[in-house]
Amino acid sequence: MNAIEVQGLTKRYKKSVVAVEDASFTVPQGTAFGLLGPIGAGKSSIINMLLNFIRPSAGTIKTLDREIPAQFHEVRHRIGYLPERPGFYGNFSAERNLRFFANLSDVREEREEKIKKLFKLAGLEGKETTLVRAYSLGDRKRLGIAAAMLNEPELLILDEPSTGLDPQGRRDIMALIHELNVHDVTLFLATHNVRDIAEICDVVATMRAGHVAAPTTTKDFVADVRGKTVQLEADIANINERILQAIRSVKGVKSIQCEGLKISLEYRPGINEDVNYVITRAGGRLRSLHESPSLEEAYVRKMGGRTR
Ligand SMILES: Nc1ncnc2c1ncn2[C@@H]1O[C@H](COP(=O)(O)OP(=O)(O)OP(=O)(O)O)[C@@H](O)[C@H]1O
Ligand SMILES: [Mg+2]
Repeated sequence: MNAIEVQGLTKRYKKSVVAVEDASFTVPQGTAFGLLGPIGAGKSSIINMLLNFIRPSAGTIKTLDREIPAQFHEVRHRIGYLPERPGFYGNFSAERNLRFFANLSDVREEREEKIKKLFKLAGLEGKETTLVRAYSLGDRKRLGIAAAMLNEPELLILDEPSTGLDPQGRRDIMALIHELNVHDVTLFLATHNVRDIAEICDVVATMRAGHVAAPTTTKDFVADVRGKTVQLEADIANINERILQAIRSVKGVKSIQCEGLKISLEYRPGINEDVNYVITRAGGRLRSLHESPSLEEAYVRKMGGRTR
């Protein structure tokens, strides 16, 4: 079954702004689907239509086999949503906020047990009684995910879950989201961060100026963005001939430039781990291993430097 089916979806604001134009895609159940597009591409407009916050100007939406908007009330409780800026009552504790949301969405049975479990799942144990105004943005997003999971939804819609977070906060939230997908929740994730896609999505559709391109597997997408060759810059504490020999043995190595240790390789998924592995196995102490250009740089380059 498909969790989402969208056909010819169009949204015009005030007649002149076309935020989404003739978008068609499906999201099979269990998939982690990524909608990747720059600021103003129309991602949130699609999400707002999926959630029945706004009406489409044209086209059809089916979510969990129900027509939206007509049958939205039948699936409302099966869908979780993390807004870009989750709204909570700052003067209430996190726990009290979750109780409030639980009551709003009619979660009465075993409410306290569920809330307790969600704090654990979201990695917020010990912060239950903290006032939300003292929460960091990362913690607010985790709490937002906990709130979205109160109904044990089959489909979780996430709008820019990593935006505004520092690297560690981003990693933590991505790990949490990935974990939910592993446990069978279908994900619909809108982001402008190509790394979010590479790290957790199975399938990606790019979006630009209201147009949604045909979805591809993330594997193909990343290979396409990267191009055929990748450069790795390695910083090894104890570089020696044995380690260089080990690197040369990795399939696809084209050249090694010893100064600053730049390795040029044919790109394939998992290539970094392979290089990391042979270096470590040959006794190398790896301080860092960077792709050059990074996936973000390669993506910006592919987009022709345009950010809109
Ligand atoms: N209520 C509205 N009225 C008029 N125009 C709007 C409205 N909401 C969004 N737009 C416009 O529609 C376009 C798409 O906006 P949308 O918020 O869907 O994009 P987005 O991809 O989510 O962007 P962001 O990365 O900033 O969240 C933008 O040009 C935006 O200015
Ligand atoms: Mg948005």
